[in-house]
Amino acid sequence: MFKIRSIDTFPNVFQNPHFTKQFLVNSEGEELNPKGKWRSDIFKNDNPVVLELACGKGDYAIALAKKYPNKNFIGVDSKGARLFTGAKTAIDEKLNNVVFLRLKIENITNFFAENEVDEVWITFPDPFPKLRDAKRRLSAKSFLERYKSISKPEAILHFKTDDLPLHLFTKEMAEEFSPEIIYCREDIYSAPLVYEELNIQTYYEKKHLAIGRTINYIRFRL
Ligand SMILES: C[S@@+](CC[C@H](N)C(=O)[O-])C[C@H]1O[C@@H](n2cnc3c(N)ncnc32)[C@H](O)[C@@H]1O
Repeated sequence: MFKIRSIDTFPNVFQNPHFTKQFLVNSEGEELNPKGKWRSDIFKNDNPVVLELACGKGDYAIALAKKYPNKNFIGVDSKGARLFTGAKTAIDEKLNNVVFLRLKIENITNFFAENEVDEVWITFPDPFPKLRDAKRRLSAKSFLERYKSISKPEAILHFKTDDLPLHLFTKEMAEEFSPEIIYCREDIYSAPLVYEELNIQTYYEKKHLAIGRTINYIRFRL
């Protein structure tokens, strides 16, 4: 028998209906938009807000939420079936500092206010290798502008990928866009890791490593 893996009843999931509305729906079926109020209304604290964009199963959001109980984490993805894993883990492990959002990242500025975000993680996003699709890459300038417009001035973007052309594209975007590239390295596991968080391996990262791909990482200010 099929088990329906529905996130609709999860109290830690907010969904944007049809990716068109300017509100989210919670597990009670209520419409809300916590833009500017994620700390006060959702997390009910004043801790930093960290986004994991294109989070899939939310591996970074979950691992970081355990490691940093004094930060709030929000995993964002458009696919409910993927969010299920992270949201279920957070419920089972009673992690109150992580929630999940089902929406299109293109619409992120509808749901966050200026200066609301402290840090952004993007891991293993789709590479969109064709030049005509470059605008769809999550490190394209129009996306970086969106992230900047909702972030604190000192906010950092972390970007981890197995796809070398996407890494080099992101580096190029950062050189154009960012006030400071803090760290950039190809094949991060060929030397001791400089940042402990890079130890966290996502579902896609494990798949890539299993077939011998190397992993690249850049962190820069937005
Ligand atoms: C290759 S998977 C990586 C998932 C996860 N970060 C990992 O490393 O396991 C890319 C994810 O990005 C999500 N995604 C792609 N474009 C998106 C968009 N525009 N808005 C929201 N999610 C998106 C997909 O649904 C998918 O879960």
